[in-house]
Amino acid sequence: MGLSREDCVRLDREDPLAFARERFVIPAGVNYLDGNSLGALPRGVSERVRHVVDEEWGVGLIRSWNQAGWYAAPGRIGARIAPLLGAAPHQVTVTETISINLFKLLVAAARLRPNRRKIVAELGNFPSDNHIVDSVCRMLGLTPVYVTAGEIADAVDDDTAVAELSHVNYRTAEIQDMAAVTAAIHAKGALVVWDLAHSTGAVEFSLDDARADFAVGCGYKFLNGGPGAPSHVYVAERHLAAVDQPLTGWFGHAAPFAFAHEFARAEGIRSMLCSTPQMLSTAALEAALDAFDGVSMREVQAKGRALGDLMIRLYDERLADLGCGLSASRDGSRRGNHVSITHPNGFQIMQALIARGIIGDFRAPDVMRFGFGALYVRFVDIFDAVQGVEDLLRSGEWRDVPPPNANDVT
Ligand SMILES: Cc1ncc(COP(=O)(O)O)c(C=O)c1O
Repeated sequence: MGLSREDCVRLDREDPLAFARERFVIPAGVNYLDGNSLGALPRGVSERVRHVVDEEWGVGLIRSWNQAGWYAAPGRIGARIAPLLGAAPHQVTVTETISINLFKLLVAAARLRPNRRKIVAELGNFPSDNHIVDSVCRMLGLTPVYVTAGEIADAVDDDTAVAELSHVNYRTAEIQDMAAVTAAIHAKGALVVWDLAHSTGAVEFSLDDARADFAVGCGYKFLNGGPGAPSHVYVAERHLAAVDQPLTGWFGHAAPFAFAHEFARAEGIRSMLCSTPQMLSTAALEAALDAFDGVSMREVQAKGRALGDLMIRLYDERLADLGCGLSASRDGSRRGNHVSITHPNGFQIMQALIARGIIGDFRAPDVMRFGFGALYVRFVDIFDAVQGVEDLLRSGEWRDVPPPNANDVT
């Protein structure tokens, strides 16, 4: 006997994190499984942003940089995210985007290893990462070396300045052993930059315990900070004094309001800043973090893992014989909080699912990706999503959906 919808309703009743769903605005009729692309809206965020617009901006005007704490916001919010990264607070700040911070970190890392000529990076990583690696290599006269995540430790040698890879892969959700990979890279005298896009707010890890050098993570995915929310950047304490990032804008200056001609790097993590913070999205991110109050990353990861295990079990029962494939580790301890199911017509099937209110995303060429914002996704949502895919495959109702246009967000 396969699992029934009632079995999943029972799992929701027993779920110790079920209370957290109330912390989010989930529209009626929507089954939201795309928190790994854009997290759902936490309650309280729109009030907070309205306050920032109407009171802090509208009334406080320029005074709010001091009086409303805008100037201190990047470090304050970084310190609040730090426990989710297993990091001491003074090593984290919030600024700009993942790609921009990767650029800063890769150049900074290469400057700390000036006589080494290679950057080793992950084949199959999110393309933006490798586009940045290529550009940094062109700029600095280094050679990029691409190998799969599992081969990184062996590919790093004594001519490698830095290795860059994702902790959780954006397609397969495979988790790397952060401590072991970092140790192997350090054994060759190289540095490591971790991409935490699919890790922060999804799985438990500790940058400090793993002795990571640098990391960057996402504000708009599992932290639910809103579209384009700023990313967070981590520099290990031991590098803070020496780190020399290339985007030397005035917000990373030791005294921006002295308006000196010469650049003098700010002390500590503030030197990772470049420009005026985008305060509206920064404020939204800060308010969104309330959704994690009183919840441990261990509980979040355990729930996400249980949701993924359920989806894989239902995939075996209902989809494996219908032309689908599984592109996810069956070992929950090696899997982050999303599951990828492949089908040659995955784009059309996902569009037809979205038309039914079941929202995941599509990653070319054939991946239907379902992400589990563990604070709000229910077990019954997983059942309904798999049932939806099964119905579509059996009815062929996806066949009327046209293929994607080149510039569609999928
Ligand atoms: C693993 C990974 N790295 C990098 C990025 C790029 O992020 P950003 O648009 O903030 O540069 C993404 C975006 O989804 C991602 O998933």
